[in-house]
Amino acid sequence: MCGIIGYVGSENAVPIILEGLRKLEYRGYDSAGIAVRGVSGFEVVKQKGRLAALEKRLEGQRIQGQMGIGHTRWATHGEPSDVNSHPHLGSGSKIAIVHNGIIENYRQLKERLERKGVVFVSQTDSEVIAQLTEYYYNGNLLDTVIRVSSVLEGSYALAIMCLEEPEVLIATKKDNPLIIGAAADAHFIASDVPALLSHTNKVYYLDDKEIAVIKKDSVQFYNQDKEPVTKSLETITWSVDSAEKGGYPHFMLKEIMEQPTVLRDTVRSALTRGTNNAVINSLDINSFNKIVLTGCGSAYNAGMVAKYVFERLCRISVEVELASEFRYKDPIIDSKSLVILVSQSGETADTIAAMREAKAKDAVTLGIVNVMGSTIAKEADYTIYTYAGPEIAVATTKAFSAQLVLLYILAVRFAVKSGKLSEDEGQNLLREIEALPAKAAEILADIDPIQKYASQCVGCKSIFFIGRNIDYAIALEGSLKLKEISYIHSEAYAGGELKHGTISLIEENTLVVAISCSERLYSKIYSNVEQVISRGAKVFLVSNTCKACPDDKLTLLDLPQVNELLSPSLSVIVLQLFSYYVAANKGLDIDKPRNLAKSVTVE
Ligand code: M6R
Repeated sequence: MCGIIGYVGSENAVPIILEGLRKLEYRGYDSAGIAVRGVSGFEVVKQKGRLAALEKRLEGQRIQGQMGIGHTRWATHGEPSDVNSHPHLGSGSKIAIVHNGIIENYRQLKERLERKGVVFVSQTDSEVIAQLTEYYYNGNLLDTVIRVSSVLEGSYALAIMCLEEPEVLIATKKDNPLIIGAAADAHFIASDVPALLSHTNKVYYLDDKEIAVIKKDSVQFYNQDKEPVTKSLETITWSVDSAEKGGYPHFMLKEIMEQPTVLRDTVRSALTRGTNNAVINSLDINSFNKIVLTGCGSAYNAGMVAKYVFERLCRISVEVELASEFRYKDPIIDSKSLVILVSQSGETADTIAAMREAKAKDAVTLGIVNVMGSTIAKEADYTIYTYAGPEIAVATTKAFSAQLVLLYILAVRFAVKSGKLSEDEGQNLLREIEALPAKAAEILADIDPIQKYASQCVGCKSIFFIGRNIDYAIALEGSLKLKEISYIHSEAYAGGELKHGTISLIEENTLVVAISCSERLYSKIYSNVEQVISRGAKVFLVSNTCKACPDDKLTLLDLPQVNELLSPSLSVIVLQLFSYYVAANKGLDIDKPRNLAKSVTVE
């Protein structure tokens, strides 16, 4: 939710900030803005719309400065408009800030400042930070930021410049991500790693309430009591190319295509010596009587798939909870509960809140996270990493697939430890998991039929996804993917549930995508297929168990043979490609669907 970037060095900040914003645009794209410290003051350009609109506006403007900040916005308070875009300035234009987060007490602070004569120009909560910093400024920006942050309630990641301290950039954060990049002759602030990768792979992860005082050739960290804090410089292993499209028309397609590699890397990390493997081995299933899986959106859907796997293999009760609900339901958990937090970004506000709720109730927390140094990675009792690399498209694909394989491996290890599977049975399953990347590659080697079928579906008004048991769980993900990027209404249903209401929505040529990868349930789902076809539906059957013949109402897509419990890793690839090509044929902005942002760091 909003991307921020800052630069201080010896080059012109403008192109560096714009390049960083391009890499952060996935975090929000309602409007964008930039402020640089020019010779005679701050030069600020803000523009409603995509970053391209800001770039256009900057064309021909000779803005120069060796320090600057930039922002790409996902609006929370105040409509997307030029004036509500960041950076925000104090009334005297002495302070410039960019903010990611929500200031919950901004009304009170704003009213207090207005009573003192401060005039606000925007409807945002963020402007209060600029006005307050300017109001309190006492000749020392660090002291002022400490004072300001002590009165802010809510969440923030901030980059702040002060006209009177031309070489200092300040960064601070609470409950929103912020990293500091260090290069030979420059320092950077960014919401996420891809924004920095072309300049440096050395970063400091800022912790909540820490303040970084950043200059061209130094960075110092302080806590709220102004005591120096020592932090270590971490090395990012992601390559520069991993954050580029690499010839693909969209990041989403590139990321779908990367799945065999991502699956291989993630499986390897969990099965060979290393931290993932060590963490998985150190968890003792026998000390838990309950597993709760929680996350949002696709991460929740990964939990839905995993529930079937854990319950079948480990015979332990598993609950799957939407993180946004979990925190408010007074969950029944204690020190014998394992709460698994699934999150690509590790920064989703609802999932972080669920983690904190679980910890407050003494549950053991395990994060399954893609982004190193993220809040969940740091705060969960245990963390295992998906090796997906940077995921830029708003619609998750490769990170979801990596989450699934880690969850399978966890389930197998738990089942062996608890004696529900023998060592041999466990090994056999692990071998099947190791074979998944090759099977995924097999699907990706022949995507034409999916592309062709999807191209005929652009006119659909509503598409249903059905499956049974674990196929139903993955149908949820197929439906979410389609809605998210194609804007076609869609619902996922457990096949047997159709007749209890939803079947009334089936009309002539309604499209139903059916998933069938369970031999034992094939006849059940197939009778649901027949029920909808006899009411006029067309069916796209994604299956490795199909015994039917295609006709004008039934199209088949064959999947490689695979253990039923692992089959979502294959069917999801077809569902991702189907959604992708429907959206591509509609000419939509696939990587940045309307109204969405990749990391939802606000509630
Ligand atoms: O970063 P997270 O995995 O915590 O994000 C959770 C959801 O916001 C995310 O999966 C969202 O549903 C995706 N855009 C779906 O493609």
